[in-house]
Amino acid sequence: MSRWFGCRDGAGAWVLTVAVRCRAWISPGPVPSASVAQTYDRARASYPQKAVEWVLEPVRLSTDTRVLDLGAGTGRLSTVLLGMGVEVVAVEPDEAMRALVPAGATALAGTAEQVPLPDQSVDAVLVGQAWHWFDHQQALAQVRRVLRPGGALGLLWNVFDDRVPWVAELVAASAAEDRLSAMDDELPYEGEPVSVRREFPHRQAMTRDLLVENLASRSGTVLMAPEARQDLLRRVRDLAPAEAFELPWVCDTWRARLRAPRL
Ligand SMILES: C[S@@+](CC[C@H](N)C(=O)[O-])C[C@H]1O[C@@H](n2cnc3c(N)ncnc32)[C@H](O)[C@@H]1O
Repeated sequence: MSRWFGCRDGAGAWVLTVAVRCRAWISPGPVPSASVAQTYDRARASYPQKAVEWVLEPVRLSTDTRVLDLGAGTGRLSTVLLGMGVEVVAVEPDEAMRALVPAGATALAGTAEQVPLPDQSVDAVLVGQAWHWFDHQQALAQVRRVLRPGGALGLLWNVFDDRVPWVAELVAASAAEDRLSAMDDELPYEGEPVSVRREFPHRQAMTRDLLVENLASRSGTVLMAPEARQDLLRRVRDLAPAEAFELPWVCDTWRARLRAPRL
């Protein structure tokens, strides 16, 4: 893997760094898991509908179309899918995150390595900001199993748009790896399926306080020495516009059409 959550050499150390960060989001830690989930839901960006539409292009959409949101978290991607009128199944292992999945979706406990769905039961599998958590070989086998023939797999990551100068300063100050300048075209898994990649710029309505909350709740920040943490959050406060503003993101999006399920 050589995306922002991995690297070509010394991959183990890099992946571990990110794993620590992500686990602080999803495990109880020093704050109750329910409040972590609520903070996550409030402070993190959603996904642009255009990116989701592009992923679903190979699928003929109808009211019978059923999409799996895998590693659904609090269901931000599910919400976008529901808005497009498709049936959504959200699979998420963490109970507190799963509790916030919107009522219109069917929320199931499960993992990417053991998807609790029958063979050939969905038209597309979408993964928002979670693929790097999965065992890719096992997850791909499960995706192939649950997809109907010709179904689509879509992987999405929101990354800071650090082409914008103050955002570049923000990511430099916070050492955030989820930034556009760290993206490359290397496949997020090995071998098949062949994917195509597109970037979808979008914006999130933001306030200075919410941005501080977002940065403060990342485990990279949580794990900092208290003084360094305070310095960082002061810097974020200084960099962010004083009035309500729009935070620029890019949704780094991958789409693959699987040739045939291997049952
Ligand atoms: C960064 S969050 C993204 C959540 C959601 N997709 C979103 O876009 O907001 C990553 C999610 O992946 C879930 N996750 C971690 N390991 C997983 C696995 N092996 N299978 C399925 N989900 C997993 C976590 O519980 C967490 O909710």
